[in-house]
Amino acid sequence: MSNAKMIQSDISSVLTRQEMAEIDHELEHIPYKSGAAIDALKIVQAGRGWVSDESLQAIAKYLDMSSEELEGVATFYNLIYRRPVGEKVILFCDSVSCWIGGCDSIKQTISDTLGVDYGETTDDNRYTLLPVPCLGACDRAPVMMVGDDLITHLDDNKISEIFSSNKSGVQS
Ligand code: FES
Repeated sequence: MSNAKMIQSDISSVLTRQEMAEIDHELEHIPYKSGAAIDALKIVQAGRGWVSDESLQAIAKYLDMSSEELEGVATFYNLIYRRPVGEKVILFCDSVSCWIGGCDSIKQTISDTLGVDYGETTDDNRYTLLPVPCLGACDRAPVMMVGDDLITHLDDNKISEIFSSNKSGVQS
């Protein structure tokens, strides 16, 4: 087997056809392969929840990049998860406006309610808590994302409402 074919079969054993098709679709609009790095990472993460070392290596090969280069992209882009996460990720803003709005004590309430600190996942695997820089909703601080939902004007009551009822609806 030629070297190129061997690399292709390595990639195919990790990435699904669907994932490769979606990456190919992105590549149609981009003049150089590495330009699709973030999109490719997001595509794989969307189906798997996170990007394992094996997936990262396969994506890097697919885009003719070194694993180190792609790791650099993944590390810089803080919404790419390089470790398994829970069903929903809580992105908790700890930047200036949210800090002025009291996010420190709200974060403590989340930690007490769910039993997790930053970087940790609840025992039932439902939530992973991560800090993020500004979510762009400073006028409604303090804010967080729970999965795809932006939740604003946070206070302790809202936190217990959200997590004690085991739901994460948008309540701004
Ligand atoms: Fe929290 Fe901007 S500082 S949304």
